[in-house]
Amino acid sequence: MIGCMSYSFTSPKEDSPYENQITQLMSKMTLDEKIGQMSQFAVDLLLKTKDNVPVEPVELDKTKVDYILGHLKAGSILNVPAGVTQYPVTWEKLISQMQQVAIKTTGIPMIYGIDAIHGGTYTRGATFFPQEIGMGATFDPELVYKGAQVTAYETRASDIPWNFSPVLDMGRNACWPRMWETYSEDAYLNSQMGVACVEGYQGKDRNKIGMNNVAACLKHFVGYGVPVSGQDRTPAQIPENELRERHLKSFAEAIKAGALSVMVNSSIVNAEPVHANHYLLTDVLKGELHFDGVVVTDWQDINNLYIRDHVADNDKNAICLAINAGIDMAMIPYDTLFCKELKELVLEKKVSMARIDDAVRRILRMKYRLKLFEKPDWNSSDYTNFASEDHKKTAKDAADESITLLKNSDNILPLSKNAKILVTGPNANSMRTLNGGWTDSWQGDKTDQIETTGITILKSLQNKVGVSNVIYEPGVTYNMNGKYHEENTLDIAKAVAAAKDADVIIACVGENSYAETPGNLNDLQLSKNQQQLVTELAKTGKPIILVLNEGRPRIISDIEPFTKAIIDIYLPGSYGGLALADILFGDVNPSGRLPFTYPKYTNLLTNYDYKPSENRATMDGTYFYAADNTVQYSFGSGLSYTTFEYSDLTVNKTHFKPSDDLTFAVNVKNNGKVAGKNAILMFVSEAVASITPDNRRLRAFNKIELTPGETKTITFKIKASDLSFIGMDNKWHLEKGLFIVHVGNQTLKIYNDATKIWTTYMKD
Ligand code: BGC
Repeated sequence: MIGCMSYSFTSPKEDSPYENQITQLMSKMTLDEKIGQMSQFAVDLLLKTKDNVPVEPVELDKTKVDYILGHLKAGSILNVPAGVTQYPVTWEKLISQMQQVAIKTTGIPMIYGIDAIHGGTYTRGATFFPQEIGMGATFDPELVYKGAQVTAYETRASDIPWNFSPVLDMGRNACWPRMWETYSEDAYLNSQMGVACVEGYQGKDRNKIGMNNVAACLKHFVGYGVPVSGQDRTPAQIPENELRERHLKSFAEAIKAGALSVMVNSSIVNAEPVHANHYLLTDVLKGELHFDGVVVTDWQDINNLYIRDHVADNDKNAICLAINAGIDMAMIPYDTLFCKELKELVLEKKVSMARIDDAVRRILRMKYRLKLFEKPDWNSSDYTNFASEDHKKTAKDAADESITLLKNSDNILPLSKNAKILVTGPNANSMRTLNGGWTDSWQGDKTDQIETTGITILKSLQNKVGVSNVIYEPGVTYNMNGKYHEENTLDIAKAVAAAKDADVIIACVGENSYAETPGNLNDLQLSKNQQQLVTELAKTGKPIILVLNEGRPRIISDIEPFTKAIIDIYLPGSYGGLALADILFGDVNPSGRLPFTYPKYTNLLTNYDYKPSENRATMDGTYFYAADNTVQYSFGSGLSYTTFEYSDLTVNKTHFKPSDDLTFAVNVKNNGKVAGKNAILMFVSEAVASITPDNRRLRAFNKIELTPGETKTITFKIKASDLSFIGMDNKWHLEKGLFIVHVGNQTLKIYNDATKIWTTYMKD
């Protein structure tokens, strides 16, 4: 067991105007009340049940509510009752009843938390956006901002002020079942999207959260996205310089943008469970990043220090480790002994009163910032814009801009509206597969029964070109009552026969919905059945458009040669079918770009910012040392129905100093016949550095729209210090020497004339 001693803690540089009120309130609070604030229970514990199953429609059980909120004085409740999405009025009724008991007991409102990760995922009738990976593919932070505003509004309409989102983990391991919950594999893109999302959820002043806003929760701090095995909640090995340079970056930026809370990585980094890691939670997060908000655990993860990770020999010692490491609130969620055991630890002086006070101050600060003391409840009827046409349009725009055209041989797309199409594949007629996990229920498995606002791919295509022009024969289907990877007996022959009457085949393949650990896989290849479907269809000689509806890049290298076009729609949400139909028939010009590297081979998983030795030509001499990291599609890939020409890349200073600001300009022209949006990405490579430099790094991007023949000059303003990397001393370095800038086909050389090393992570 790691020694369970009382650790030091770091005071944040908080700037909240509520500190005096908090001090006064805390001076009157008992130890039980303080510990109660630090506890968060699952709503299941408060529900009326029959044979241990919540009765429906869901109802609170007064005795249970009195126990959790009255006796234990819980500060927070989470999750969706009965495991399935509820109407705003039901939420409002349940939460206001809980709130009354909380306020009557301690005078302090409880805070309800939920995972509204791509729209109000647990609010029935809410607007569903593309999952984060699709939002990353838009390369448009403004869309992320607007989407987060809609989500905040519709979550508040359910009387819920705290959203466990955004995920700022890095989607760098294609096997990881939570890859689709991330924005991308890149630290800069994640930071930009993370900041936009926090501002959309909370507004721009963390001390004045509006009535249409919610508290963000950055998760999962830190290093969760790169398990060595690819399986969820298994250990990651991340050198500290890498952890700081890539993984910490988006958390630091989103904290600067005002995020009110952070959830901890459920897993293990460099052999230490993060929930027990005082260095990461206290020294780095609360100290170096100046985080003054709430650190909440992930689901049952204090207990996991004992039962799963074996760094504590009983539950009480696990609590001791976690609270001393810097946890402020425990997502317990079921074990009611937490409060008793934490109190004993305080009385035994194993957890200091100062640590408890730090945690409680942070929790109260979040509640004050959310104005819960002034207004602990909202009426769903005040939220008249809930699921409005405007909200739906924002979700459709996001789906339009996320969809990524990866291949378009002979410009087969867009299709003619007179073409007769065969729609096939297990993803063709399901709202479940379009939305993915965390939709209506945890695994997303109830969406086909519940979702009424969206339209499947099949129906969207029928609406677009008329039912008589569409033949539907799925060929392969998922077992909707089984595990996400289970498929039903094949009827590929029927699909092949149907292809005879079609001009073109739209094969909708990918994955069924899943979330977290149940989404683990042991083969990244697209399922054998689905590959067989495409292979057999190819024998008909009819052109195949492959539509990928999947949470992670399933390998398609064997069937790719059989296709004319490939479109990745990721998990595009309720309006993904409509967006795809618009793109297939040219009513929308695609503009998404891959936010990750699409692998070609199962044993060659890589990222775009690899080291030079990973991809090099053969050396001269006897030994032919070469390295080839061929991928299916590289990060940033994405075609359009028009072409863009880049010219005249310039910079304001060819020689610069670390304190300089750099301004780059480039002309971009639409050379084609249709209007189009284009995300312009600026990559920079460092020629030589004291540690092996990355192949290239995304340092700026901008998305613009151009009409045919139009040229725009795009400027990118960055700080020279944005080109720095974390060296072996774990500090930011900007070293003297040559940097090469790439935008489209343009390159430019710039030189840093002086080396600088920053002593603090925030460079302050
Ligand atoms: C997930 C978190 C989520 C939490 C609460 C956990 O299993 O890892 O991302 O916020 O549950 O639902």
